[in-house]
Amino acid sequence: MSGEGIGFGKAILFNEHFVVYGIPAIVSAIAKYTRAKVEPKEKAGWTIVDNRKATPRYKEDKIDQQKDSINRMVKKMGLDLSKNGVEITLEGNLYVASGIGASAASCVAITRALSKHFQLDYSNDEINEIAYEGEKGYHGTPSGIDNTASTFGGLIWFEKGEENIMDKINLQNPVEIVIGNTGKVANTTAAVAGVKERREKYPQKYAEIFDRAENIAYLARDALQDEDYKELGKLMNENHKLLQQIEVSSRELDFLVKLARDQGAYGAKLTGGGLGGNMIALTPNKDIQERVANAFEKEGFQSLRTSIGVTRGSE
Ligand code: PMV
Repeated sequence: MSGEGIGFGKAILFNEHFVVYGIPAIVSAIAKYTRAKVEPKEKAGWTIVDNRKATPRYKEDKIDQQKDSINRMVKKMGLDLSKNGVEITLEGNLYVASGIGASAASCVAITRALSKHFQLDYSNDEINEIAYEGEKGYHGTPSGIDNTASTFGGLIWFEKGEENIMDKINLQNPVEIVIGNTGKVANTTAAVAGVKERREKYPQKYAEIFDRAENIAYLARDALQDEDYKELGKLMNENHKLLQQIEVSSRELDFLVKLARDQGAYGAKLTGGGLGGNMIALTPNKDIQERVANAFEKEGFQSLRTSIGVTRGSE
């Protein structure tokens, strides 16, 4: 038996970092995915062939984390690889970089492929739970937002709690975005740890920022439901300001955010862990999308033209 499965990439539209502390966040899967294939092999254990296209250094930097992640998932699934092992191959059209949910997409894809290979018939909820365990290999204490978007697809309101809240937000029409890649591999664990340290040091300042972030999430959900993209863009700009205040932006991210706004994006902000990685620009028609993406490319940055609100949960 062999098995295959995919996991979507994602972009956080609102409240990365704040989500770790239970503040609501909004995330969208994007129509790019990592695919995993699992083949039996005679030797014990697992091996991996990683054919994903990636930002230089990304795969090398994360190799130990990837190993820890796969071991965690194999353990959680209770697989016995002591006699016959598996070879896992990763591929797909998601260009692997920081901030785009690459680790979660690979965890979901691997879990789905192993589930097929071993005929475990996992539900999406089970896939999500195992992928969350795999995410711990990369992040330590992930909020769970990435694996949720990667498993279920679509646009999701997410709140971390004893029981996570995951509500679908349905859009009438998909909306164009551009994702700009700084080309810098970022360390999400370090970014999350930095926020924790500063929050403890400046409780009053951080409490105010976190309150506003919470407010923004509710306003953004209304704007999405009303398809009010001017308002949504303004809220993204404000969200970026809060992320700057908690010191997770970077020179390159701020540069791309400004460039996107100058080229007509309705709003722009960093997306994901920050300190490098990716940013997202709201460009709700093809012309603006093209203009922003071309401007990024002219400056030597990679851009991804995609949409939010399209992908659905899928195997
Ligand atoms: O850097 P990424 O794409 O893995 O996103 C991390 C999102 C954070 O909110 C910073 C961390 C988390 O666990 O939610």
